[in-house]
Amino acid sequence: MILVTGGAGFIGANFVHSWLERTGEALVNLDKLTYAGNLANLAALRGDVRHVFVQGEIGDRERVGALLDTYRPRAVIHFAAESHVDRSISGPGEFIQTNVVGTFHLLERVRDYWSRLPETAAEGPNRQDFRFLQVSTDEVFGTLSPTDPPFAESNPFLPNSPYAASKAASDHLIRAWHHTFDLPVLTTHCSNNYGPYQFPEKLIPLIIHNALAGKPLPIYGDGLQVRDWLYVEDHCQAIMRVLEAGQKGETYNIGGWNEQPNMDVVRIICSVLDRLHPRADGRGYAEQITFVKDRPGHDRRYAIDAGKIERMLGWKPAETFDSGILKTVRWYLDHAEWVHGVTSGAYRQWVQRQYGDASFPV
Ligand code: NAD
Ligand code: DAU
Repeated sequence: MILVTGGAGFIGANFVHSWLERTGEALVNLDKLTYAGNLANLAALRGDVRHVFVQGEIGDRERVGALLDTYRPRAVIHFAAESHVDRSISGPGEFIQTNVVGTFHLLERVRDYWSRLPETAAEGPNRQDFRFLQVSTDEVFGTLSPTDPPFAESNPFLPNSPYAASKAASDHLIRAWHHTFDLPVLTTHCSNNYGPYQFPEKLIPLIIHNALAGKPLPIYGDGLQVRDWLYVEDHCQAIMRVLEAGQKGETYNIGGWNEQPNMDVVRIICSVLDRLHPRADGRGYAEQITFVKDRPGHDRRYAIDAGKIERMLGWKPAETFDSGILKTVRWYLDHAEWVHGVTSGAYRQWVQRQYGDASFPV
């Protein structure tokens, strides 16, 4: 049994599906269900006894303590966070509350639970084998110039946005709980993810959604900012590998060696859509591209050196950007109702219509 936080969000939900499919090991999924957490992402697991969903706050010490004592997980994988940079600029408070304060409370509860486990055990959780895995981001390293080498694990933390600063703060807590209390932690720093179930506020699903809706495709500034894209399932596989074989207290960068300027990403999406779902008027989706005001403090370039995880843990991404983006565009074309649901707030009714149970899946 493992405990996953934030497993109704984009990466968390992909992870939950992948974990159950690949390992069959049961998990408890603790998620507050903010705008970004949707039960529709977990609809296929209805009735699956290996998945225990609990709606709740990572900062609720009593609840988290009770969950740990009841389910006795052998590991905690911490995805839950406020994750969107633009929202962190318009309203940083929630980011501090969840990503920093919430993580602190979670860590304290986990430390208490871990300290009461047997040192070793033939079966069941024990202090030696227990792990707390912090799912973090490359944004903690700040921004790169075009000639800088990609971020290595040894790069200093230089966060620029409130989101990045809140993740860096929580990463520091994780490190300190290991150094001071010996809590067996692992930390991963991943680059930009894309794939199924991503809320259409992030660049790739937003562009697909707006293109199909005939809306402008907003490009911040000159569109030459660079991100390093990784298909979400590759991220999930990397996390599983780190959990299985990572060294206590170590950090691992995760990325697909796939740097792309935003403008190119948007053009690629437009050309895939032109092929798979041509506009009714026969014109190209790229016509909808619109340059808009830049994001304040916009980081110019992220790039990940994934050499350590490749060498030490033998992980490599399975998807190229071409194969991943094709799968992603197809997924959004096939799941128009999911997109409508999460953007209109009607996803609960959608789940109810499909599965006939308003309280699903708790
Ligand atoms: P997301 O916003 O899609 O999902 C976050 C989930 O956390 C939601 O289900 C939400 O309901 C839940 N949540 C938020 N606050 C909570 C709280 N206080 N208690 C319990 N649950 C809460 O985010 P995502 O894109 O899936 O990112 C997941 C993690 O991965 C985050 O920690 C993020 O920093 C990290 N990460 C994301 C990316 C990316 O490209 N999306 C890349 C690297 C790292
Ligand atoms: O690098 C990892 C990070 O990637 C994660 O830690 C974050 O949780 C995740 O949100 C993502 O952050 P970004 O800010 O890089 O992602 P976003 O999709 O918001 O933007 C990607 C790039 O596209 C960025 O340079 C801003 C730009 N952009 C974004 C939006 C939403 C636009 O040009 N137009 C847009 O409408």
